[in-house]
Amino acid sequence: MDKQLNRRTFLSAGATLAGGLMLPAAHAAGSKERLRIGMIGTGMRGQVLLRELVRRDDVEVAALCDIEPIMLGRALAQVEKAGKPRPQTFGEDRDPHAYRRMLDTAKLDGVIIATPWELHAKMAIDAMQAKVAVGCEVVAGVTLQDHWDVLNTQRKTGTPYMLLENVCYRRDVLAVLQMVRAGLFGELVHLQGGYQHDLRAVKLNGGDPRQAVGGGVEFGAKGWSEAKWRTDHSVQRNGELYPSHGIGPCAMYTNINRGNCFTRINAFASKARGLHDYIVKQPGGASHPNAKAKFKLGDIVTTTLSCENGETILLQHDTSLPRPYSLGFRVQGTDGLWMDLNHSIHIEGVSKPHQWEDFKAYQDKFEHPLWRAHAEKAAGAGHGGMDFFVIHAFIEALKAQAPMPIDIYDAITWSAITPLSEQSIAQGFQTLDFPDFTDGKWRTRKPIFGFDGRY
Ligand SMILES: NC(=O)c1ccc[n+]([C@@H]2O[C@H](COP(=O)([O-])OP(=O)(O)OC[C@H]3O[C@@H](n4cnc5c(N)ncnc54)[C@H](O)[C@@H]3O)[C@@H](O)[C@H]2O)c1
Repeated sequence: MDKQLNRRTFLSAGATLAGGLMLPAAHAAGSKERLRIGMIGTGMRGQVLLRELVRRDDVEVAALCDIEPIMLGRALAQVEKAGKPRPQTFGEDRDPHAYRRMLDTAKLDGVIIATPWELHAKMAIDAMQAKVAVGCEVVAGVTLQDHWDVLNTQRKTGTPYMLLENVCYRRDVLAVLQMVRAGLFGELVHLQGGYQHDLRAVKLNGGDPRQAVGGGVEFGAKGWSEAKWRTDHSVQRNGELYPSHGIGPCAMYTNINRGNCFTRINAFASKARGLHDYIVKQPGGASHPNAKAKFKLGDIVTTTLSCENGETILLQHDTSLPRPYSLGFRVQGTDGLWMDLNHSIHIEGVSKPHQWEDFKAYQDKFEHPLWRAHAEKAAGAGHGGMDFFVIHAFIEALKAQAPMPIDIYDAITWSAITPLSEQSIAQGFQTLDFPDFTDGKWRTRKPIFGFDGRY
């Protein structure tokens, strides 16, 4: 940013944006001040989200349900430690349907679902039918039919549903949303993102409740936490199994379901080597029965989407090989691009030709109103603060009876990438039509995410 004229353009873009985004929310009458919230699944993730719930004065954690007594006990202790009233508990009897008793009897306004993926759709459907608003951890379902069922139930019942996609609230991701909306990148052309996280020691552990990461090569019944269930998806399935961390922000930037939509999708999968290689390299691993396990999930799954307005989006799922964590975002338009891996940006006419600029000055200048308002409260929350915002959004929208900022159409569209990518791979990497879950409403729906600085 060394040219005076262009610097002025840059600064005025920021100013216009800051003012222009403070649009009023579509608040309905009859908003609630305090909500009774329950949680299904109080495992590792549930406990992180619970931390955000118990520190809010506008939330009463009224009920908790888990079929694993150790996890339930830890969550209960967390609520008690925060000095909050003891919630009702369900699932001590290990009844997998105990959550239904909670939905029927605990008089909840909302429920957080943080259970294994294969349970999300059914639990969300049951909650929506019981008129309990749903905040569902990623993903929305497993099969394509799951996705249609969740969508149709939401439309039939009208019960609010939000996908708790926290990466949409990451500080740099939200600053880039401001830049996109200010036109800093010109017209968007291509975006990238993904889930690139070495999960080998999460998918394979020693089955010890005191250690969820590493310490062995067990999975399934002998594993602990995600090794109990997530690894089986790597055995049975080959696709983009965790799309929303990458596609959520990219879909916000390109206004998917709000003036734009996905048109076509394909996915390519590499060979699967990483998990087996990890197992046999662990102490005693080569002679462990799991050394014979066959994993279907390709180590690198690359998915491409095309959009009605001409953009392409590339996602990569990479969880079984050694690598530092990175979601690999790239947002590129006619005037420049941002990449998160090198924390860099290049804007033509502002940056020196062919050179990267450090992202920090841009991030500060285009700080999203949500982060301007709540950075202090978010400090210390999970995943660099973004877990504060995702819970905040769900609770505030629910209290105000306002539309969910990541709503049913976003949830289903983003999450259905998984079964569609599986289908593409199974059919020899074929390119498929992307279903229009909005039934044509994408043409007229307006972006709401982050617009009024509350959600
Ligand atoms: N957004 C994020 O950053 C993020 C991070 C981690 C996990 N997650 C998601 O959160 C979800 C949970 O993951 P986790 O890491 O907490 O896994 P986990 O295995 O630690 O916890 C899942 C919990 O669900 C419980 N459960 C299983 N069946 C149940 C039933 N029928 N009724 C009630 N409880 C039941 C289990 O006993 C367990 O305690 C997954 O969808 C995962 O993808 C999201």
